[in-house]
Amino acid sequence: MTDSDTPDLMDPEVQQCPYDFYKALRASAPLYQMPSTGFHLVSSYQLAREVIRAPDQYLSSVSPMALADDGVPQEILEIYEAHGWVPLASCSTSDPPQHTRVRGFLEKLFTAERVRAVTPTIDAIAESLLDELAGKSQVEFIQDFAHPLPMMVIADLLGVPRSDIGQFAIWSDAIVEPFSMMASKERRIECARLVVEMQAYFAEMVAERQKKPRDDLISEAISYRDQEGNSFTMQELMTIITIDLLASGNETTTAAIGSGMKLLIEDNDALQEVTADPDLIPALAEEILRLESPAQGMFRRCAKPSDLSGKGLREGDLLNIRFGAANRDERQFPDPDRIDLHRAKPGSHLAFGMGRHVCVGAALARQEIISAFRAVTRRYGEFQLVPEHPAPTYQPSLFGRNLLSLHIGWKTRA
Ligand code: HEM
Repeated sequence: MTDSDTPDLMDPEVQQCPYDFYKALRASAPLYQMPSTGFHLVSSYQLAREVIRAPDQYLSSVSPMALADDGVPQEILEIYEAHGWVPLASCSTSDPPQHTRVRGFLEKLFTAERVRAVTPTIDAIAESLLDELAGKSQVEFIQDFAHPLPMMVIADLLGVPRSDIGQFAIWSDAIVEPFSMMASKERRIECARLVVEMQAYFAEMVAERQKKPRDDLISEAISYRDQEGNSFTMQELMTIITIDLLASGNETTTAAIGSGMKLLIEDNDALQEVTADPDLIPALAEEILRLESPAQGMFRRCAKPSDLSGKGLREGDLLNIRFGAANRDERQFPDPDRIDLHRAKPGSHLAFGMGRHVCVGAALARQEIISAFRAVTRRYGEFQLVPEHPAPTYQPSLFGRNLLSLHIGWKTRA
């Protein structure tokens, strides 16, 4: 593949459906330096694993926000400095020792045991959202279901009142959008204003819990002590609450539930199979994560020169691991572009990464997707796109894969 005949990942058409582009890359240039951005796309499963498994060679401390042509504009820094806290690097975009300290806290929050304990709450939230849609033959599946579900779950866990959730949606988008690398400077400034509003909201909650701890994740973060016995600073707490817990989990899980519904509409056999046998829903969740990986790509930075896929990389070179491409690698997943509910190793995809930075919220996210599709397929069937609405489109992003909307029709099961 030559530079001139390679479509660009930033191309709006490729953004809508990147999978032919990924396939061409895997075949001819699994490590490909994109002329428009200079960073190297990693698209094969084997290379992605090689990069992920060498976290000291390929560092995570790369802020996608700082990669924008104008870096982080002064106006944005001033908004944070004057009205809030400058966000620190998130857990996923930091390296030891900062990463070790924050991960030490985060990785205990969503263990299998803790997720089992909150599963009845997740099920109840899914059911309550569907109760509100009762009697409707058409819904906008993202706003009506896929978006509020993870938001309500994490809000409950953090101890945020349900009545504040509407505001949350706006704040959560404001955190994530600058990471897309596709937001204008004006929008990023607007996002910074919204984020400091959100920080003020959480600072109040932190102050309340410092006086009177409760049984929630904010209180747990306040009382956490690292191996040296140090607690988190307010700047760290703000980053952990708003970025590591809220933003990392909401958009990704919404993306999985939204894309999952679209996949089921496109594949009636898979829908029939999971409807007839709900025990296949966990396998469906893995296939959704594999086929439409909500985190399509993450950056790494070369700590020192290396030779990857026969290419000499220099210190400071940037790699972008395309999880979405690795997860459709034909050498790893036979017939990779279709849902197969009986794959030998259903969870062997890289949608949650692996190793040092493997997603701390994976067990929670998996349960949310499972609870969502259990409830929806038990109560409804005959899903279809509503023809009066334009075909569903994805929000352009280098990181995520979120449907902007999904207008569907459905029928209540008898
Ligand atoms: C379907 C939903 C989700 C997907 C696809 C997803 C995906 C990922 C991926 C790929 C990584 C690894 C990044 C890397 O290697 O650079 C990651 C890390 C992370 N995720 Fe998730 N995630 C999801 C849900 C969640 C949830 C629900 C939470 C928390 C409530 C969460 C919190 C985090 C955090 C804090 C990290 C950083 C871990 C580290 O760097 O050590 N994620 N996630």
